[in-house]
Amino acid sequence: MKSRILVAEDDQVQREIIADILLKADYSVRAVESGTKAFEALRAESFDLLLTDLRMSEMDGLDLLRQAKRLRADMEVVVMTAFATVETAVKAMKEGACDYLAKPFDKDELLVVVNKAVEQGELRRENRRLRDLVFEASSLGNIIGECAEMQKVFDVVRRAIPVNSTVLIQGESGTGKELVARHIHFSGPRKNKPFIVVNCAAIPDTLVESDLFGHEKGAFTGAETSRQGKFEIANGGTIFLDEIGDMRLDSQAKLLRVLQDGIVERVGGSQPRKVDVRVIAATNRDLRKVVEAGEFREDLYFRLEVLPIPIPPLRIRMQDLPLLVNHFREKLSARLRRPAPRIGSDVIEAFRRYRWPGNVRELENTLEQLFILSDADTITVTHLPEKLRAPTPAPSEFKLPSGGIIMEDLEQDLMRQALERSGGRIKEAAELLGLTYKTFQYRLKKHEIDRKDWA
Ligand SMILES: Nc1ncnc2c1ncn2[C@@H]1O[C@H](COP(=O)(O)OP(=O)(O)O)[C@@H](O)[C@H]1O
Ligand SMILES: [Mg+2]
Repeated sequence: MKSRILVAEDDQVQREIIADILLKADYSVRAVESGTKAFEALRAESFDLLLTDLRMSEMDGLDLLRQAKRLRADMEVVVMTAFATVETAVKAMKEGACDYLAKPFDKDELLVVVNKAVEQGELRRENRRLRDLVFEASSLGNIIGECAEMQKVFDVVRRAIPVNSTVLIQGESGTGKELVARHIHFSGPRKNKPFIVVNCAAIPDTLVESDLFGHEKGAFTGAETSRQGKFEIANGGTIFLDEIGDMRLDSQAKLLRVLQDGIVERVGGSQPRKVDVRVIAATNRDLRKVVEAGEFREDLYFRLEVLPIPIPPLRIRMQDLPLLVNHFREKLSARLRRPAPRIGSDVIEAFRRYRWPGNVRELENTLEQLFILSDADTITVTHLPEKLRAPTPAPSEFKLPSGGIIMEDLEQDLMRQALERSGGRIKEAAELLGLTYKTFQYRLKKHEIDRKDWA
């Protein structure tokens, strides 16, 4: 498609010559004789480039430039000016013009400047488009993450949204399990139906069943009226069973029945009720191990794990740190109704070294604390709480798991984590593992790891 140029020039002769040259150079041209007319044209249609004289009656070129930039930030502007007023041209460039033409100019000069401006505009729009794409890829709704692990999470989440299959989200506390569950519910076909949260660890054992499945009047001491359970309340929607790993074994049996037949029975009742509820379960425990320990029914585990979503802890995806920090800066700034302070790069470095046992939630809370307690425009390391200023902890909370471990796998895994944290920089990754650059590189080759995956 031809690039569209708007020419604003009050001198009729010059206007016609310019338009003629540009038309012959295969541009689509609209030529007007005043700033006001140009502004009208801009309001009505879009142009790739505005070529405007600086001195015109009514609205002069500089005013037009300002208004045009406000109206069409994406459009390039070139100003034309008499040689004597080059200073004004400089001023125009400060206001956002990308180039200027000193009068008198010839055909070649005109075309060089115009071609360059049009190309530059195309490049800029293309860059912006790419940036938007990148941003889109690094978040899913409110869930932020650009690392490979989070991309996998997003992929499963997207697939989980339109279907009814049970989802099992596993991850440490604060990794965003509930956030993911909400996203699945509120982006899917059940979004106008209830989303009911049940914290299986917080309900006393004796009440789990009546809480989930309801009870009839007189079912137990204190049951003065009959009551709907959470499953009945969630009918048509989604139930989020948080900390499912802490559910008692006999409650698990009842839950399994609901999952298999979609039937609930109130405590003390005899009438089975059909419910249509999507189940999303979450746990911060390794449910596989809880099964092995005999504390969780294997059949229920398999029934829940139709769509497993493992969310990695923050410390192995430090690559996401800058994005997360920015996200929370904006969120907090909106909530506290004041501009967010800048975050020094030394702070990000300190964040990278910290283990974040409370994961993203801890990061969010830390930032909130920093915002509220400090009046500085820029937050630096000195503002950080003690835990974040402490030197790197000794590298061994590592415990050999009961089933043992394959050394080679561990090595690979640690190397990947180090690359993740260093954003693909070999030198830093090697330092994190106490290896020399050469050794690290040698082992990269050995494991066929491509550091570019993190760059
Ligand atoms: N990937 C993420 N992107 C943005 N915010 C996140 C992310 N993970 C967690 N959070 C935020 O951290 C907090 C805790 O998340 P939550 O879903 O409650 O964690 P969990 O259920 O795993 O303990 C929430 O305020 C949530 O907004
Ligand atoms: Mg939670």
